[in-house]
Amino acid sequence: MTDNMCMRTHSLKGLAAVLAAVFTLIFFSNPLPAFALGPQSTAPSAQADATPHPSDGPWWKHAVVYEIYPRSFQDSNGDGTGDLNGITDRLGYLESLGVDAIWIAPCYPSPQADFGYDISNYEAIDPQYGTMADFENLVAQAKKHNIRIIMDMVMNHTSDQHPWFKESESSRTNPKRDWYIWRDPKGYTADGKPIPPNNWISAFGGSAWQWDPKTKQFYYHEFLVQQPDLNWRNPDVEKAMFDVVRFWLDKGVAGFRLDAITNLFEDPKLRNEPYTGKIDAMGDREVKDIYTNNLPEVHVVMRKLRALVDSYPGDRVLIGETYLPSVQDLDNWYGGAAHNQLQLPMDMQVGFINKMDASLFRTRINQAETEINGNRPLFVFDNHDNPRSWDRYGDGVHNASIARVIASVLLTSNSAAMMYDGQEIGMVTTPPRTKAEVRDPAGIRGWPKYKGRDGERTPMQWSDTTDAGFSTAAKTWLPIPPSYRTVNVQSEENRPGSLLRWYKDLITLRANDPTMRDGDQVMINTSNPSVLAYVRKSVDGHPAIVVALNFTASPQTISLDAASAGVTGTNVSTVLTDAPSLERTGSLSNITLPPFASWIGRVQ
Ligand code: GLC
Repeated sequence: MTDNMCMRTHSLKGLAAVLAAVFTLIFFSNPLPAFALGPQSTAPSAQADATPHPSDGPWWKHAVVYEIYPRSFQDSNGDGTGDLNGITDRLGYLESLGVDAIWIAPCYPSPQADFGYDISNYEAIDPQYGTMADFENLVAQAKKHNIRIIMDMVMNHTSDQHPWFKESESSRTNPKRDWYIWRDPKGYTADGKPIPPNNWISAFGGSAWQWDPKTKQFYYHEFLVQQPDLNWRNPDVEKAMFDVVRFWLDKGVAGFRLDAITNLFEDPKLRNEPYTGKIDAMGDREVKDIYTNNLPEVHVVMRKLRALVDSYPGDRVLIGETYLPSVQDLDNWYGGAAHNQLQLPMDMQVGFINKMDASLFRTRINQAETEINGNRPLFVFDNHDNPRSWDRYGDGVHNASIARVIASVLLTSNSAAMMYDGQEIGMVTTPPRTKAEVRDPAGIRGWPKYKGRDGERTPMQWSDTTDAGFSTAAKTWLPIPPSYRTVNVQSEENRPGSLLRWYKDLITLRANDPTMRDGDQVMINTSNPSVLAYVRKSVDGHPAIVVALNFTASPQTISLDAASAGVTGTNVSTVLTDAPSLERTGSLSNITLPPFASWIGRVQ
């Protein structure tokens, strides 16, 4: 995501436009490279302290949260679609990877118009994913693997098949009428067509207003027509949704990822949004979403939600899908100095820079570390809505090395970390080849300019066997990408230098080294445009750590100025590197980093 995309000129609208450009660039100009074998990584040498650190704050502070798109993770019953028992079957893998929690994209009953983000019952499991007993078993088994479960909570909208909406649309006088956003037409055209109340557009294309001929009013939908927005100005909506939250907290989930949460409120005056002058990927006149996104009222709800979650034991967590224009906006989502809203609104400022620009990474990481009132950043590079970081950052030649640089930023920063299934093995974005193949409604509407999100939702590649070990079905819900033969868990587990091993080494390091867990992150060599370098400062006498990442395709020789961050030791040893030439680095002076190399060292 570029700046534009982060700002979400109009939610996924902005996203769609940028993605279209990315797709064009990647899939039409450069054929994707074969998976490159990386050089050997050095396993973490001394694990400074392998015991857990109960005193260094709540679990989520250091968490690696792993997003699972349940349709695509593991199919346990051979129907071509992933399911909950499939996730349970893979808990051993998730534990070996070192993740602390899994966020499961919606698995509630749903007509699947937006693959689960259109929920028709918030307190049950969709039969295609299993049963409530399967879910409870997953929670119990996951606990044995020290893995917590985070539910995806879609509070902005329901399915149009949800009983609440069925009631609401039944008549203007139904008690639930005001649970959604119904408005009279602005007027009628000469030929009798109702005119929508204003110019608001849907993230998935077209007017955000849908006409209901029966009751002769429009309802508002930020996303699909099948996803009517709830009216959060009605206290009954809040009460009903908070009951849903309690239902899942009572089941023992560790928290929620709050979907489209910045969209909860709309301007009650329904003012038109200003046009940007551009046409977006869906063919609509783009608007700046100042009256439908990030309205201040949402923070009142977030404070109440936090109080509710905090009333439960066990440090339950609120994670937000927060595409925001600046670090100041992000800080508001924590509740600033009061720390009373979300614990972990996602920082999209760093992960979606979308170019290997060391200076921009330095600025954005530094802002996250120093300008959010001591709150904890949550960095994220991949999810089910964006082309994979492998392609967004890859240059077509050094993708594997670049992926290791990205993993290093994600996992050696003083932050919580969010990953998406397949990221750890370098899965490539595999978009549909023809419109007929497209499953994502956004892609169907946006084709061919915007091909939708199927490309990042393809089945997890476990092995080089049938259906990549994902399923035994003759046909999987999305095709298995051809890359599965080389890019898969089984082969990478066995291959020194693989991306998977790099992820595992980094996660082990960050879990066990007190400096990596809590040391302040201070940028060094700050005028270097090619190398991103920083120090993680010593904690409790444990050695400081220096990280140096070459963001360019040329070798870079650098003398790392750790002293500028107050690190004066001269005893330097390599902890992890993907460059064999750096394995014996003994000094911070004149280090030559090969193209896109990562080096992590201890200094004392
Ligand atoms: C969020 C989800 C996306 C979904 C949308 C509507 O952006 O991540 O997948 O389509 O919300 O619920």
